Amino acid sequence: MKLSSPLKNSVVLTGSSGQLSQSIIKLWSSHPISMTHTLLPFSKSQLDITDPKSIDLKLPSKDVAVLINTAAYTDVNGAEINHEISYEVNALGPELLSKWAHNHNAKLLQVSTDFVFDGNASVPYDIYATPNPINIYGLSKRKGEECVIKKLPESSSIVRTSALYSSTGKNFVNTMLNLMITRDSLSVIDDQIISPTSSNSLAKVLMSIAQKLVEGTAHKIYHWNDGGTLSWYDFATEIQKEALSLGLLTTRIPMARVSSRDYESIAQRPSYSVMDRGKTLTNFECPKESWQTQLNTVLKKKIEKNSHLTAGL
Ligand SMILES: NC(=O)c1ccc[n+]([C@@H]2O[C@H](COP(=O)([O-])OP(=O)(O)OC[C@H]3O[C@@H](n4cnc5c(N)ncnc54)[C@H](OP(=O)(O)O)[C@@H]3O)[C@@H](O)[C@H]2O)c1
Repeated sequence: MKLSSPLKNSVVLTGSSGQLSQSIIKLWSSHPISMTHTLLPFSKSQLDITDPKSIDLKLPSKDVAVLINTAAYTDVNGAEINHEISYEVNALGPELLSKWAHNHNAKLLQVSTDFVFDGNASVPYDIYATPNPINIYGLSKRKGEECVIKKLPESSSIVRTSALYSSTGKNFVNTMLNLMITRDSLSVIDDQIISPTSSNSLAKVLMSIAQKLVEGTAHKIYHWNDGGTLSWYDFATEIQKEALSLGLLTTRIPMARVSSRDYESIAQRPSYSVMDRGKTLTNFECPKESWQTQLNTVLKKKIEKNSHLTAGL
């Protein structure tokens, strides 16, 4: 295997307390890249990606082969109110990391989002589709993509994903499970079409892309999801069905379909945000399990951990 530099033995992971980073940390030792590289995870308190001094001080200047930036301001409604923090973390952060990578001959793997698209499509967005974000979160993430592409045209990759969830953390699956325990009934949006992504499956894909980045054979933009095309309502229905069959839930509650017009949300959201992951499947070693199997695995993990559903969701 030809490495870009045999002296660079580290992969830096930013935003390491987040759900995606946690999956990368758990999977790291079982992936071939761990044989040649050491993972250096940094939480927000250890490394603030919006602070150039923090970046310079904390990162080992000679040893970083790849930076994987999972750090983000992910509160989509909050971004509509806190424009500044959204742009700082999602645009300035990647820009500063790109500058650092450029100055230290490192590569950057930037995680981005389906929210860079406007949702007016009716077939999956391919990697060449023109971004046109419709909310501040999407605009700030797109700005981050542009900064990375501009500063590191030959030594970065951007991986867009959607509806990310894991067994822990704040995400749709955990929110639904909590509501299914605490409520008598639920209304779920049925006119936004999404493609759920387990942070586990994305973590595997990111590690493969990081490996290719080190070898110098990864390119610009990739899309990753678990291959489904469904509404939030369909997703909630599957969550309830699986959780009941696994014993995570004991009681079925009625669920109603609701239109996004009737659901109060500060941020406008794309009505269709399915992305075509074909190029990723062709170029990298990717999980082949269906989105339903990925969901089942995550729910089983919750049982393994003996998670108390009403705590920490
Ligand atoms: N969640 C989704 O549905 C979704 C969908 C599409 C794409 N994505 C993208 O996927 C990536 C990972 O998302 P995720 O769900 O794992 O997010 P997450 O759980 O919210 O994790 C993001 C992490 O970034 C940290 N962070 C925030 N500001 C920071 C800063 N200034 N410096 C360093 N770290 C900072 C956060 O720390 P604190 O918690 O302490 O603030 C948090 O630990 C992000 O790029 C996100 O945009 C997510």
